[in-house]
Amino acid sequence: MMDIINRIDGFTYTDWKLIESQFNPSQLRTRETIFTIGNGYLGTRGSFEEGYPNTLPATLIHGVYDDVPVVYKELVNCPDWLPLVITVFGKGDEETVGDRLRLDQGKILEYERKLDISQGLLTRSCTWCSPRGKTLKVEFERFASLADPHVLVQRCQLTPLDFDGLIEVQASINGYSENNGFNHWGEIDQGRIEHGFWLNSRTRSTRIDVSMAARMKIMGIEAVTQISTTPGYPSWNASFKAKSQQKIVIEKVITVFTSQEVEKPTSASLDKLTHQPDYQTLLLAHQKAWSKIWDQSDVMIEGDNQAAFAVRYNLYQLLIAAPRDSDRASIPAKTLSGFGYHGHIFWDTEIFISPFFILTQPALARNLLSYRYQTLDGARRKASHYGYKGAMFAWESADTGDEVTPRWSLPNDFYGEDVRIWCRDREIHINADIAYTVWYYWWVTGDDEWMRQEGAEIILDTAIFWSSRIEFNSQFQRYEIRGVIGADEYHEFVNNNGFTNRMAQWHLEKANAVYNWLCHNFPEQAVSLAKKLHLTDDLRHQWSDIIAKMWIPQQPETNLIEQFEGFFQLEPINLADYEPRKKSMQAILGVEKTNKWQVIKQPDVLMLLYLMRQSSLPYDQPTLQSNWDYYTPRTDITYGSSLAPAIHAILAADLNSYLKNIASAYRLFMEAALVDLADKRDNTQDGIHGACAGGTWQAVVFGFGGIKITENGLHAQPQLPPNWQRLKFQLCWRDRWYVFDLHQPEKDRSEIRAVIFDLDGVLTNTEELHYLAWKKMADNAGIPFDRQANEALRGVSRLASLSLIIGDRQYPAAEIQKMLEFKNNYYQQLIKQITPKNLLPGADALLEQVSQAGMKIAIASGSKNARTVIERLQIGDRLDAIADGDSVLKSKPAPDLFLHAAQLLGIPPNQCLVFEDAKVGVAAALAGHMWVVGLGPKERVGDAHIVLPSLAGVKWSEITAQLQKMVLSEVR
Ligand code: BGC
Ligand code: BGC
Repeated sequence: MMDIINRIDGFTYTDWKLIESQFNPSQLRTRETIFTIGNGYLGTRGSFEEGYPNTLPATLIHGVYDDVPVVYKELVNCPDWLPLVITVFGKGDEETVGDRLRLDQGKILEYERKLDISQGLLTRSCTWCSPRGKTLKVEFERFASLADPHVLVQRCQLTPLDFDGLIEVQASINGYSENNGFNHWGEIDQGRIEHGFWLNSRTRSTRIDVSMAARMKIMGIEAVTQISTTPGYPSWNASFKAKSQQKIVIEKVITVFTSQEVEKPTSASLDKLTHQPDYQTLLLAHQKAWSKIWDQSDVMIEGDNQAAFAVRYNLYQLLIAAPRDSDRASIPAKTLSGFGYHGHIFWDTEIFISPFFILTQPALARNLLSYRYQTLDGARRKASHYGYKGAMFAWESADTGDEVTPRWSLPNDFYGEDVRIWCRDREIHINADIAYTVWYYWWVTGDDEWMRQEGAEIILDTAIFWSSRIEFNSQFQRYEIRGVIGADEYHEFVNNNGFTNRMAQWHLEKANAVYNWLCHNFPEQAVSLAKKLHLTDDLRHQWSDIIAKMWIPQQPETNLIEQFEGFFQLEPINLADYEPRKKSMQAILGVEKTNKWQVIKQPDVLMLLYLMRQSSLPYDQPTLQSNWDYYTPRTDITYGSSLAPAIHAILAADLNSYLKNIASAYRLFMEAALVDLADKRDNTQDGIHGACAGGTWQAVVFGFGGIKITENGLHAQPQLPPNWQRLKFQLCWRDRWYVFDLHQPEKDRSEIRAVIFDLDGVLTNTEELHYLAWKKMADNAGIPFDRQANEALRGVSRLASLSLIIGDRQYPAAEIQKMLEFKNNYYQQLIKQITPKNLLPGADALLEQVSQAGMKIAIASGSKNARTVIERLQIGDRLDAIADGDSVLKSKPAPDLFLHAAQLLGIPPNQCLVFEDAKVGVAAALAGHMWVVGLGPKERVGDAHIVLPSLAGVKWSEITAQLQKMVLSEVR
C-alpha cells in the first residue's frame, strides 16, 4: 500500500488516513464532525478527551429520541464517554498546583491527530509543554467496536519527557450532555464497581434508559486509584509518581445498552463489561470486522489521490452510520455526527444513500427499508390527519414515523418574523421515493421473502395514498397533483410538478406489478393484504386510469419538461449577476422572491431524469440535453442543496458529448466528494452531509463507472475522468458478486487512426439536388416548400424529411410511398449530372493529406444513393469502407451509422474522427464517443470538438495538433 502524503484544506492524508497536524482552536466544531467514529449503533463526534469550551461533543445512539419543542423529536445527546483529564505536578510534594493538559495553554511541541478509516480508529499524539515548563508526551486512541457494537474503547499513553513528578488522571462519563443547551435527561442513577463505575440516564419524555459502564486499567506504574461518584459524573481517579521517560498506559473500556434492546440496560452493560478482554484483543476483533466491510464496500481509484481518499472517507461515514442490528432506525440526514436536522430522517436515505448499501451491503439496506415498514403506522396516522387514505410518509421522520418536520422556523432576531415551513404538508414526493427504493432493493437483491413480508405493504399502502390525493381534471381529461413542493424547495406551492407527477405514476405502475406478483406467487398474502389495506379491484382500475392519464407537463417540440405549471412564466434570473457569493439564493432574495423567480435549489426535472435513467420515460438523450441546457444555469448549485452536485455530475457524464462534459462532471463530483473534508458549505459543524456522501458513491459507480442494471445483471460503460487510471469496485447482484476493474481505454484517445466523412454537405453538395427534388415533389403535391423549410432537412432521413414537409397533412400510406418514389427518381436523375468537379473546395486536398498520414477512410452517409454519388465523384478508390443509408436501422442522431463505419474499418470508435455538417450528425458522432469536426455555423455544429466553416484550406496537421491539446486540457 502506498503511503504518499497529500493535502486537502489543511489536512494531509494517505490512502486510508486523514491527518491533522495542527491544533486549530477556531475549527474545533468542524473537526469534531470530521473525526466522528461509530459502529452502526452509535456515533461519537471527534471531541477531545480534555474538553474545550465552545465545542459540541456528542454521542448519538440510533433510535434514542426525546421530545423537544418546535421540532417535536430529536436524537438525544447521550452521556459522553470520552472525558480523560490529565494533570501534571512537579517534583516533590511541595508543588501542589498542577497544570491540566489543555492545548490552548502552554506550548504544543508536536501534534498529530489521525483518523484511520480502514479500521475506524482515531488517534492523537502530542508533545506538550505545560505552562510551568513540564513536557509530556500523550497518545490517545479510541474506537467504537464494530465487532461488538456495545463496546467502546479508549487508551491513553503518557510519558513525562523532562520531569519526575506527580501525575493525576481522571477518567469519567459525563451525564450532563446537552443538545445545544437543551437537557433531555430526567432520572439519573449511578454506582461504582471494582476498577470502574456505571451511569444510567433516562430521557425525560420517551423514558428510554441509556446505561454505560466503564472499566479502568493502568499499566507501567503503581498508582493509587479511587472511584468518585459525583452525581451525573462518575469518575475513576488515579495518581502516581512518574519518572522522566517512563511510559504509563491507561485503558478505558465502556459498555453501553439502552432499554430499546434489553429490559435491564445497567445489568446488561455491567455483565458485558466483565467479559471484555484486553485492549489489543478488542482492537484485533474490531479491525477484522472492518476489513470484512471494506472487502465488499471499497472503491479504489488510481491516478487521483484526492478523489480516492475523499470517496473512501464518504463511504466510511456512511458505513459507521447505518444501523447494523436494528430495523427500527435509519440514517439521519446528518448521520450520527452532529445536531443538524435533529437526527430526522428524510428522502436523503432512500434516494441518495441506500443505493450504496443495496449494492454492497444488502443486509444493511434491508434494515433501512424495514425502518419504513416499522413506521408505516405513523405514515397512516399522517394520511388520515390530512384526510387521505393509505400511508403518507413523513417528510421528516423519527422513531414512530409521525411527521416531525417543524412547522415554523423561528428567527433569533427579536423583531424577525417566524417563517412557515411547508415541507410537512406539501413535500409529498417522499412517498414515491420510498416506494422507488423498495422496488430497487427488490430488483437488485431478488429478496422475495422481504418483499412478501414487508416491501409489498409499503408499496401498496403508499400507492393507496396517491389515489386519494391525485385529482382528475375533467376539463382536460387528465390526472393532476396540485399544491405540492417538488424536489426543488425554492418553490413552495406548485401545481403539477413534473417530478412528483411522474414519480407517483411510476409508483402506481409498480404497485400494480407488485400486487400481480403477490397474487401469482403468494395468493394468500395477496388476499390478506388486500383485506387489511382495503385494496379493491376498483381501486386498482383507478390506478391504471391514473397511469394512463397522468399529466406530465412537457413540450413535445423541445422535449423540455416544465418543472411545474407556470415555471416558464416566472421571473428569469442570471445567477452570474450574484457572484461571488457565500450564501444560498434564497438567503439573498428572500423566500417570497425566490418563489417567483426561475431559480431552483436543487435538480428537480433533472432529478427525475436521473431516477428514470433505467426507465425510458422520459429518459433519452435529446430530453436530457435540452433539460440540462435549460435547468443547469438556473440551479443554485453552490449554496442551494448539497444533494445537487453529485446528481449533476452523473448527468454531465451521461450527456452525449463525453469529452466535452467529463471535465465539468469531474468538477461537480469533487464539489460533492469534498463537501465535508473541505467544509464547502460552511456547515460541516452541524454534521456530515449523508446524502451528499451517498451521491458521491453514485457518481463514481453510475456516472464514471457507467454501471447499468439490467434484468440480466450489471454492466459497465465506463467513462473515467482522464486522470483516473483505474477504478475498481465490487457490486452484489442477486447474491452474486461482480468485480469491476475499469481502466482508461487501451489507446490514447488522441491517437486518431481513421477519418469518417459524412457525404452531403461535407465532401459534396448534394443538398441542392435534394432541395430541387423535394421542391418538385412538393410543387406537384401542392405543398408549400422553400429553401428555409429545406434547412430543417439537413442530415435527416428520407422518410423523416417527407414527414417534416407534409406536417399535419394526412395522406394514405400508398400516397406517401408514391411521394417518396417520385422524389427519389427525380433525385437519381439529378445525381447523374455529378462529376468530380462537384467535390467541395478543400475536399480533394484533405482526402489526399489524410491518406498520406496513413489514416483509414470511410464514408458514413444516411443517403441510400451514397454509392452512386461516390462513384460519380470518382473517390471510391480512396475509401476503405462505405456505410450508407441501407447499413443500419437507426438513423442519426443515433450513433449506429458511424459505429458501423468504424466496425467496417476495424478501428475503435474513440480513435475515429468524423467530419459532419449537420447537428444530428455531430450528436451521432459524439454519442458514438468519436472525435468530431463540425462544418458550418456554431449554432448548428457548435457541440463538435472543432468547428470550421468548411473544408477549404484545412490542414490535417493543424487538426491533429488541436485535438492533442484538448486531450491534455481535459485533465483538470
Ligand atoms: C429543509 C427542509 C426541512 C426544513 C425543516 C429546511 O432547511 O430544506 O427540507 O424540512 O429545513 O427542517
Ligand atoms: C434539501 C432536501 C433534503 C434536506 C435534508 C434540504 O436542504 O432541500 O432535499 O432532504 O435538505 O438534507
